[in-house]
Parts: sequence; structure tokens; C-alpha cells
Amino acid sequence: MSFNLEEELGGKDSFQKIITIFYDRLFADPIVGFIFSPHEKNKLIVSQMGWLSSTLGDRSGTYEGKNLRVAHQDLAITSGQFNRRHTILAELLDEFVIPEHVKEAWLNLDRGLFDMIVKLGKKNRNQKTDAVIKTINLLDD
Ligand code: HEM
Repeated sequence: MSFNLEEELGGKDSFQKIITIFYDRLFADPIVGFIFSPHEKNKLIVSQMGWLSSTLGDRSGTYEGKNLRVAHQDLAITSGQFNRRHTILAELLDEFVIPEHVKEAWLNLDRGLFDMIVKLGKKNRNQKTDAVIKTINLLDD
């Protein structure tokens, strides 16, 4: 079913309110906060809104940011971190009056991005270990 996301959420201000609270919670979260905190929150709010309205429903938004795989590939996000963000989103959407078909489409889309966002296995472990070794080497200098 096609819909306009902004309209379904009660207008631009309420859309922005939901996404702002989402990022406030992500930045403050003890599990994933450290991944977000080096980045500019306002920029992420704007790109998240643009990406969602370009992807959900009538896709009327204008997203001009990076491809999602490119945007996340160096972050080495684990499945636990992915799930944590998804849970924060699901709980947040339950706090607002959002039509069921919109909520369902949003959460399905979000969950469906797992393979694109998450880095699993040896490569990710090596990347994380390399980062620790690099830090230790820097301490030695
Ligand atoms: C699953 C659905 C997700 C969507 C739809 C999404 C969407 C986005 C978008 C649109 C951007 C901006 C890219 C740009 O403007 O160039 C972005 C960046 C980012 N995302 Fe996600 N994201 C998702 C999952 C995650 C997860 C699970 C994490 C971490 C736990 C995460 C952390 C970040 C960070 C730190 C950036 C900034 C990267 C940078 O600027 O270099 N994202 N995301």
C-alpha cells in the first residue's frame, strides 16, 4: 500500500520529533551510543528523514547521502548492535500513534537491512583486533 510517510506521521514536525528522539536515545545508549557519538547528530537526523521518505511508501523524499552499505561498512557493526538500534526504534514507534501499516513497513524495512549493515565473522573480528593493536602501538610511542 502506498502512503506518504510525512503525512501519515502527522506532518513534518512530528516526523522530525520522532527521528530526533530516536537519535537522542541512540546517542545516549550504553550499548550503541559510542558508535554514534563521534558523528553530528543533526546531520544524521536530516539524512535519516531523507532516506526514510525516499524509501518508504510513495518514496517522495530526496535522499542524496551515501549508499547505506558504503555509509556503514567501516563501522564494523555487530548483530547485537544492529538489534539494539532496532529495538530502540520499535519501542519508540510504539509510543506514538502511527498507523499499523506504516509501522509494519518501517520495521520490516529496518530489519531487512541486516545483511547490508552488519559485518559478521572473521573480517569484522580482525578489523576490531587491528584497531586494538593500533591503539596499543600508539600507547607505546
Ligand atoms: C538498519 C537501518 C539503518 C538505516 C536505515 C540507517 C541509515 C543511515 C543513513 C541514511 C546514514 C547517513 C549516510 C549519509 O548521509 O551519507 C547513516 C549513517 C550512519 N549510521 Fe546508520 N542506518 C541504519 C543502521 C545503523 C546501525 C545499526 C548503526 C549502529 C549501531 C548505524 C550507525 C550509523 C552511523 C555512526 C552513521 C554515520 C556514518 C558516517 O557519517 O560516516 N546505522 N545511517
